[in-house]
Amino acid sequence: MRLIPLLDKNQVGRWSALYIAEKIKSYKPTAERPFVLGCPTGGTPLATYQHLIELHKQGELSFEHVVTFNMDEYVGIPSDHPESYYSFMHNNFFSQIDIPAENINLLDGNAEDLEAECARYEAKIKQYGKINLFMGGVGVDGHIAFNEPASSLASRTRVKTLTEDTRMVNSRFFDSLEQVPKLALTVGVGTLLDSEEILILVTGHNKAQALEAAVEGSVNHLWTISALQLHPKAMIVCDQPSTMEL
Ligand code: GLP
Repeated sequence: MRLIPLLDKNQVGRWSALYIAEKIKSYKPTAERPFVLGCPTGGTPLATYQHLIELHKQGELSFEHVVTFNMDEYVGIPSDHPESYYSFMHNNFFSQIDIPAENINLLDGNAEDLEAECARYEAKIKQYGKINLFMGGVGVDGHIAFNEPASSLASRTRVKTLTEDTRMVNSRFFDSLEQVPKLALTVGVGTLLDSEEILILVTGHNKAQALEAAVEGSVNHLWTISALQLHPKAMIVCDQPSTMEL
């Protein structure tokens, strides 16, 4: 695993955006095989999205031949709810780049049959062969996507019950804890590990334990981020405060 320690979250955003831009630009897309990018939500990737948008506005990067798959989505809030991951992605990224609408893939947390929705998503990813690069963040408790502690490291896209800890951490975006959904759809750890490359962003002192578990801990389903150690091309880009426990 490559660890790229940088000074602060802005550097993490800039470095990761330049890395992703280079990958997209050096890729030769075909109709069957566009560049497939896995996308996270959360506060951490915001700086990366901002830098990618800037590169696009400067005419240096196009998303015309990029297909995206988001990591996860809440169950039980409408897609136009300001805190749905659908809204997050459209407001913070998709509306400001030239990605064709049909290239955007998000899990539908309001699907009538949630299990069928997860199977549809897995099948759609497989249609492209592999995700070229999955970008992600990490939860304070080491969860990757919404693969909460004790998730199987072989898991695929599925419905997941959120832990009270995660609901509490994410309640900062809602008016109250009660409004935070209890369920989510998430790609599995196995789905993530199938990607050609994984790029995880870690910023802030509250992620120090998760970073320690990812880098120095053993592979452990209680810290699902540690599954990165099983991947041949995983990279963590982190800021100084998050390295406190290393
Ligand atoms: C949520 C998301 C994760 C994300 C985590 C951390 O739980 N499902 O994909 O990594 O939040 O978010 P933040 O970057 O805001 O700390």
